[in-house]
Parts: sequence; C-alpha cells; structure tokens
Amino acid sequence: MVTSPRRGKDRTRLIACLYPMQIQTIDWLGNEKGYLKLIDQTKLPRQIKYLKCRSWQDVAESIKQMRLRGAPAIGVAAAFALYLGIRNLKTTNYPNFYKKFSVISHALLSTRPTAVNLQWALNRIDAIIRSYQRDFNLSRVIKASFQEAMKILQEDREICLQIGLNGAKLIKNNYNILTHCNAGALATAGGGTALSIIYQAKKQGKKFSVFATETRPLLQGSRLTVWELKMNKIPVTLICDNMAGFLMSRKQIDLVLVGADHIARNGDTANKIGTYTLAVLAREHKIPFYVAAPLSTFDYKIRNGSQITIEFRNPEEITHIQGRPIAPLNTKATNPAFDITPHKYISGFV
Ligand code: MRU
Repeated sequence: MVTSPRRGKDRTRLIACLYPMQIQTIDWLGNEKGYLKLIDQTKLPRQIKYLKCRSWQDVAESIKQMRLRGAPAIGVAAAFALYLGIRNLKTTNYPNFYKKFSVISHALLSTRPTAVNLQWALNRIDAIIRSYQRDFNLSRVIKASFQEAMKILQEDREICLQIGLNGAKLIKNNYNILTHCNAGALATAGGGTALSIIYQAKKQGKKFSVFATETRPLLQGSRLTVWELKMNKIPVTLICDNMAGFLMSRKQIDLVLVGADHIARNGDTANKIGTYTLAVLAREHKIPFYVAAPLSTFDYKIRNGSQITIEFRNPEEITHIQGRPIAPLNTKATNPAFDITPHKYISGFV
C-alpha cells in the first residue's frame, strides 16, 4: 500500500514550484484497473509520502487514521473506495450485488461521521447503481461507477477554483487573514476552499499575509496549512489556538476565512474544533468571518446545527503528541473533533 516515488529534498523542491492545484492530495492513476494515490498527511511536513490504495479497506483505513482528511477530499476518496469495493464483484444478480455494495457503503460512512461530503459522494454512486436496478449489467454498472467517481474528482477541482475566484474579492491589499485547521489543497482534490481564495488573491497580485492557528490536537494548521502556504510563497505566521483573541484585540486581523464539514439549512456550520471560538471573537471585534465550501457541504435536509453529528476521537490525541505523553498517566480527556458555529456569527458563505 505504501510507496515513496521521490524522497527528500528533490520531491519537496518539485512540489514547491507547482501551483497549489498541483499538490495532488488525491488522484486516480491509470485506467479502471488503476489505483487511488494519496499523500499521507500524518507524515507532513517532515516527509512527503504517497499511499497506493487498491482496495476499499485501504481507503477506509486512510480516512479513519486521517492520512487523508478534509471534507471534500474525504468525499472524493469515498467515491473511489466504493468503486474499488465493487470492481471485482462477480455476481450477476442485482439484489446480491446491491447487498454487498451496501455493506461497503455503510462501513465507509462510519469512518468520519461529521464530514457530510462523505455521505453525499456515497449517495452519488448509490444513485448510479440504482439506475441499473431494472436492467442489471455487471460490467456496465462497474464502469459507470468509475466514471461517476472520476466526475466527482474533476468537479471538486473546478469547484475549488470557482470558490477561489468568487472569494478573492474579500481580500484587500495589506490585509491580515486568520485561518483555522486546513481548508487548502490538502483538504480537497483541487486548490482548497478557504485557501483557494488566498491563492487566487495572490494570483491577482494582492499583497497580504496569513495567520494560521496550529489547530490542536492534530496540528493541521501548523503541519499542513503552514506547509502549503510556504510552498506557495504566501507570508504566514503560526499562532497557538489561544492567541487569536489577543491579535484581534490589537487590530491585527482584518478577515477570518475557514472551511466547513457540514452546513445546515439555516447556515449553522460544523468545522474543526475551535472555529466557534474564533467566530465569537471575530464578532466581538467586528471582524468579517467567512466560510468557504462547495455545495456538497450544504445539507438542506437538516434544519440547524443541533442535527449535525459531532465526531469524538480518541482522547489520546489530547494527552499525547505524536505518541509522547504530555499529561500524567490516565488523565481524563475529551476530544470533540468539530464544533458548530451558529449562523448569526457568519458574515457570509463563499
Ligand atoms: O479533521 P479534519 O482535518 O478532516 O478537519 C478538516 C476541517 O475541519 C476543514 O476545515 C474542513 O474539512 C473543510 S476542508 C476544505
């Protein structure tokens, strides 16, 4: 499953000279017999290591272990995982086929419960398969599922670009922008959501700088966002999560840009734990707070944020950093991975 095509400095230099769209967080290599290629994000920024996923279990495990993370990227990966799960099925009986498909789909759904893009992508493949219910043809259904997964991948790339182009007008010269977690190329198949806005503003020649929160406990801000922004020569300053209020009170933040994992019909938004705190602080200091997300993150079936399932992860992620204890043995800890920002704190959606 694991491969490192180019190691060390060479590979880092190669990626550094590419536009963020070219940070290939997730890609399908080869034809229908090919495999899903992912960057192992748990290894960043120390090492750029690629994973080859040839089975749905490889993909599910990568999502669970957060080797791949970020709601849009998870959605794309899940679509390919379903395809990988069915491509070798032999049954020519639709009910049997659908039963096997459903087992895989349910297993994938449980990997990250808050990222609604996962459910959305599974539903898209499900719709393709159901369309063959009456006139079942195994090889055609497998081919059509592959094509749908490729379509989801391409669409995500295009949507990221459009989010960037639409949102770039929010950024003015000399702005200091605060972002949280990683809503960049590493969280999507394209150039990101919140960070795509930053990349497009830079392309338009605007001068600005970014503050990135480190994003405890898994440090997506320091490990991933800072890495991505530095790769793209965007001035970035790392802060601890608890420093944002201080900077805001000193008028050092002009705009907050974040991504989203699940947005309810009324605009309540689930995003990485700590987003709610930043939104309340931004309101107190009259700083615009924008959420950037593809339509696949909007869930019109649910009325408000109270209906969003929040993922709770292993408390060891709090009591340990990369395997080393930072609290006394047997310390009780709780680890919600996301929080809900009520819509009243959100200036707008891109
Ligand atoms: O736990 P993660 O790293 O998957 O959380 C990611 C986030 O919270 C992102 O902000 C969100 O998925 C949007 S990514 C474009």
